[in-house]
Amino acid sequence: MDASPGDLATLTRKITVERGFGCASYKEKCLSRRIAVRMRARGVHTYADYARLLDADAAEYDKLLDALTINVTKLFRNWDTYRAIAATVVPDLWSRRIPTVRIWSAGCSSGQEAYSLAILFHQHAATQGMLAQIGRVDVLGTDIDRASLAAAERGLFTEPDFADTPDDLRERYFTHAAPFSISPAVRAMVRFERRDLLNDPPPSGEHELIACRNVLIYFDRDTQSRLFEMFFNALAPGGYLVLGKVETLLGASRARFIGVDPRERIFRRPP
Ligand SMILES: C[S@@+](CC[C@H](N)C(=O)[O-])C[C@H]1O[C@@H](n2cnc3c(N)ncnc32)[C@H](O)[C@@H]1O
Repeated sequence: MDASPGDLATLTRKITVERGFGCASYKEKCLSRRIAVRMRARGVHTYADYARLLDADAAEYDKLLDALTINVTKLFRNWDTYRAIAATVVPDLWSRRIPTVRIWSAGCSSGQEAYSLAILFHQHAATQGMLAQIGRVDVLGTDIDRASLAAAERGLFTEPDFADTPDDLRERYFTHAAPFSISPAVRAMVRFERRDLLNDPPPSGEHELIACRNVLIYFDRDTQSRLFEMFFNALAPGGYLVLGKVETLLGASRARFIGVDPRERIFRRPP
């Protein structure tokens, strides 16, 4: 492939201007790898030719953005992390004397993370005999990708989504025949909104728990540091931040958060 870095910068600027996808904040390697996949699929060898193809073919533009956003996810992804959240975070937050327990799944893709968190709270309320109060829990899933959010709204899942899901939770919270639908009680706890983490303000209000997993990994270090600062400010005192298994706090944010379960990437804003 005859694709020079200069042309890559021209192409990513074009994508940013035309589609509002802030390429400059993403790791260049990650962008170039994804763009190369699409170029190969279309038999195009230079970034300049690919830019011309984008002008001529709107469907290819959508496919490229789909490739750039990387939407892979599943329910209870890395179950050990959810087990730790269920054991420590959920009981603590449920016991707080606040009218609304705000949860934010930032970069929620098609909703699996948001629904998984909602299920943990529902299960906890049920074991406490307090389901009448489940309306206190408000789970917001946000993502930049509209197609993923439309799928999230439907709340329908396929077999691979359940690879990390314990049998009892699957049995209790999903229909038993495909397409596997989330229980209406959990569906009612979750809402979705389009938000670009790079350009939009965080959702209003103080959050008790922010999960931003397998999203920051695609951003450069400066952007990650900026987002850690934003999450810190969006958390209530004592609120929790959960990252993906291969992500960790950087720079000044390391000293700002308390490590609750560093192995499972669970951190906390000091109370
Ligand atoms: C790999 S998925 C992670 C999904 C889920 N958090 C998980 O861990 O399974 C990454 C998600 O980040 C979203 N994303 C990428 N850039 C974003 C941005 N600037 N603002 C909001 N979401 C973004 C993508 O659309 C994608 O759905």
